[in-house]
This record gives sequence, C-alpha cells and structure tokens, in this order.
Amino acid sequence: MLDEAAIRKVDRSGIVRDLAALPDQLIRGLAIGGGLGPLAVGRRVTVVGMGGSAIAGEVLAAWLGAERGLPLAVVKDSVLPAWVGDGDLVVAVSYSGNTLETLAATREAVVRGCDLVGLSSGGTLGDLCRGRGYPFGSLPSGLQPRAAFGTLLGALAGLHDANVHGEVRQAAEIVRDLGKPLGPSVAAARNPAKKLAQKLRGRTPIVYATPTYAPVARRWQTELNEMAKVLAWASVLPEADHNELVGWDGDAAARRFAPVFLRDPAEAEDHARMMDATRDLIKRRTKIEEVRAKGPSLLSRMLSTVQLGDFTSVYLAVLRKVDPTPVAVIGKLKDRLAKT
Ligand code: F6R
Repeated sequence: MLDEAAIRKVDRSGIVRDLAALPDQLIRGLAIGGGLGPLAVGRRVTVVGMGGSAIAGEVLAAWLGAERGLPLAVVKDSVLPAWVGDGDLVVAVSYSGNTLETLAATREAVVRGCDLVGLSSGGTLGDLCRGRGYPFGSLPSGLQPRAAFGTLLGALAGLHDANVHGEVRQAAEIVRDLGKPLGPSVAAARNPAKKLAQKLRGRTPIVYATPTYAPVARRWQTELNEMAKVLAWASVLPEADHNELVGWDGDAAARRFAPVFLRDPAEAEDHARMMDATRDLIKRRTKIEEVRAKGPSLLSRMLSTVQLGDFTSVYLAVLRKVDPTPVAVIGKLKDRLAKT
C-alpha cells in the first residue's frame, strides 16, 4: 500500500521529492536571505504572511525566541497591529507573491514608514518591492508554498547574523541524515513516517506540543489538512490542560481522535511532567501516539520533527488515495475574495 509504485501513482506531481529536498532548500534559502544582508540584526522584526509562508516564520521565531532571545513577531492577517510602526523591519513573505492578506498588510507597512523586505517567487509582492526599491529575495518558483518551507525558513534566517546561519547549516545536515529512513523507498516496517500514517488512518489527529513546539505542531496540522485532506488540529500544553482535557474525559467520540504528542528530549522538567500526566489521562480514552524529536540541537530537532510530519501527511494522502498536491478549495476561496 505504501511502496514506491503506490506512492508515485497517487502523488502525481511528486511533492514527496520536494519534502525530501528540505536540507537543500534550507541552504539555498540561506543564500537568498543572506544575499540581502543581515537586515534583521538589532531590529524589531515583524514577519507578515499566511499559511505555508507564515509557518516558516513561526518555526524560526519559536527557535530564535527559545535559544537566541530574539523576539520575532509573525502577523497572519491583512491588518497590521498598531504596534508595528515607523522604523520597524517588516518582512513580507508570500511564496506566490499574490496573497491578499499579505499584500494588504505589506501596503499598510509602507504607509506607516516601516522598512520592508519581500520574499516571494514573484507576483505582486515582487513587483511592489522592485518598483519601490525595497530589498527583495526572489525564491525559486514552481512549488506549492508549503513545499517551499525550507527555502522560506532559510531565507528568513539569512537575514540574521552568521551564528544563526551556522546553526541552520548544521541543522540542515542533521535533517539530511535523519530524513533518510523517511523516504518513499524505505519499507513501512523500517519507516517511522509510513508507520505513523498507518496509525493515523481513519482517525482525526490532534497534535500536542509545548509552546516552543507549537508551530511545529501547527505545521503537522496544516500538512495533514493540505496533503492528506483531513481535519486535524494542533493544541498546546499547558493551556489545553485547563480546558480541552475535560473534553477527553467526557466526550463519547474520543476514540475517533488520534492524539500525537510531540516530545523534545530536552523539554523543561515541568513540561515533561505535564506531557506525561496528560498523555496518561488521555490514553484511557483513546490510543495515543508519541513522537520523540531527534537531533543534537533544538533547531535540528524542531526541523526533523517538521520533516517527519511532512512525510507522514503525504503517506496518509497515499493511503487515502488523494493526490497530496492540489488544494483546489483554497484557490476557489482566493478567487472569490479577489472578486469581492
Ligand atoms: C499552499 C499553502 C497555503 C499558502 C497560503 C498563502 O500550499 O500552503 O497555505 O501558503 O494560501 O499563499 P502564499 O504562500 O503564496 O502567500
């Protein structure tokens, strides 16, 4: 069911190859962002973007915040918060360059006198930056935005200093090694992503994480949504222990859901205790899955966990016999909003 031929048959445009290119994308992205200069160093930085473009900023922001003490805000809206103003650096990220919300927030940033950097494969964002002389990183085109995750994250990281570049480069090589057992040619018995996809089949995933991993969990959710075309959610502890947990206790439908706990081997002791206790309570109600992040550094563990979720979502699509690439309904909605 998940051999290479079966994968090729369902994954018609070969998006699984784009996912396997994550390490190369990170390096390429670094060169693109780095080529613009260390524009983010010492600045208040806000990334504006949506969906597959925003998530790269969110994962980077979680890592920079946890390890580097660098605050990076990500705005996923057409409206810029009032605190973004004159002198701030706004990085507009839209793979297509044509997303309405991102363009609206970008235009507002221009009106407010922010410094602007654009990252896209072209589109209106590319025209706007080039036309007004703003720094612009041109991304290789032809991918689904979510399949350009590595390039987007690398390009954003490229705007930071050489230490950040070094960490990303190192993480890329670790992810390259850790990704080998996840590829389409590795049999299900030895492939953690294929095994997990089989376990998630027919159930609704809810991906649990602690705050640093929240965007990683969200990436899992969105990949499951867009690749496998299933409903899925991401939830963050400790907050979910104060509300969602009660649903697990009382809802007769609990068994239909598949909680997936994303665990970091270096998670803070109180986080570890919360995750353990929550897992033990929930596993009385349904079968749970636990993923242990691999890698010597936090960034490598976050990125290798993203990679595992990405492959899992494509294999789940194959099991469901749905082509992972198209997201027709998003296009339909964008068309309708563009007309109104
Ligand atoms: C599609 C995808 C979407 C897009 C989003 C914004 O693969 O992941 O979430 O990323 O609709 O479009 P862009 O990234 O072109 O600004």
